[in-house]
Amino acid sequence: MTTKPVRVVGHRGAAGDAPENTLASFALAVKQGADAIELDVHPSKDGRLVVCHDTTVNRTTNGKGEIGQMTVEQLKKLDAGSWGGKAFAGERLPLLEDVFDLVPPRMEVNVEIKSDSPALRDALIGMLRERELFGRVFVSSFNHECLVRLKRAEPLVKIGLLYDTKPLRPAEAHGKYGVEPYSLHPHHKLVDRSFVEEAERLGLRVYPWTVNDEPRMRALVELGVSGIITDFPGKLRGLLDRL
Ligand code: G3P
Ligand code: CA
Repeated sequence: MTTKPVRVVGHRGAAGDAPENTLASFALAVKQGADAIELDVHPSKDGRLVVCHDTTVNRTTNGKGEIGQMTVEQLKKLDAGSWGGKAFAGERLPLLEDVFDLVPPRMEVNVEIKSDSPALRDALIGMLRERELFGRVFVSSFNHECLVRLKRAEPLVKIGLLYDTKPLRPAEAHGKYGVEPYSLHPHHKLVDRSFVEEAERLGLRVYPWTVNDEPRMRALVELGVSGIITDFPGKLRGLLDRL
């Protein structure tokens, strides 16, 4: 089997073993040997970057409401852990800066943005500049236009094109927007060898998502992907250690 290094990317932290997108989940991903974590952000009413998958707090906290209509003070009162079990009671919705304070500098962070809000764009660029994070952060989205706007606003930001339907061939994706992507993030079922090889020739990373079963992880490692996004970073790390 190929020995090309494959990066372990913990999806929403270690979402298979802890409540997603909480500091407990990110800490567990670190402990389980992830090289990177993936997370989702939305802007709060007062323009801060809140780590949460949904646009509302309804599913993953004990509160209700739109993140964009709530201040950080309101959001930080919510319990974002109890739904994952008593051991996680009292976990709070993290701000993006809380995550950077937690994860070690060796780790990359894949920030997924789900909206094209100028408030989000400004806050994200501000944080990347202030904390000098351009080397270890890549920003992905299904909304490619908003990534292009982000890249035009700050050329140092690395962007990753997410696909939930058949992805463009890497050569097309590479040339389509007039800005250079860093990575392609296709659904894992939509990746084959020629896709990976073409991306590699163009210097594009390939990060399939979200892969939780070992045979599929093994097959993707064999294809030579750059990294695998998984809810179970420990499982992928264990597999890579055995290969
Ligand atoms: O980055 C891959 C994956 O996170 C995209 O889908 O819905 O889990 O944010 P979703
Ligand atoms: Ca995501």
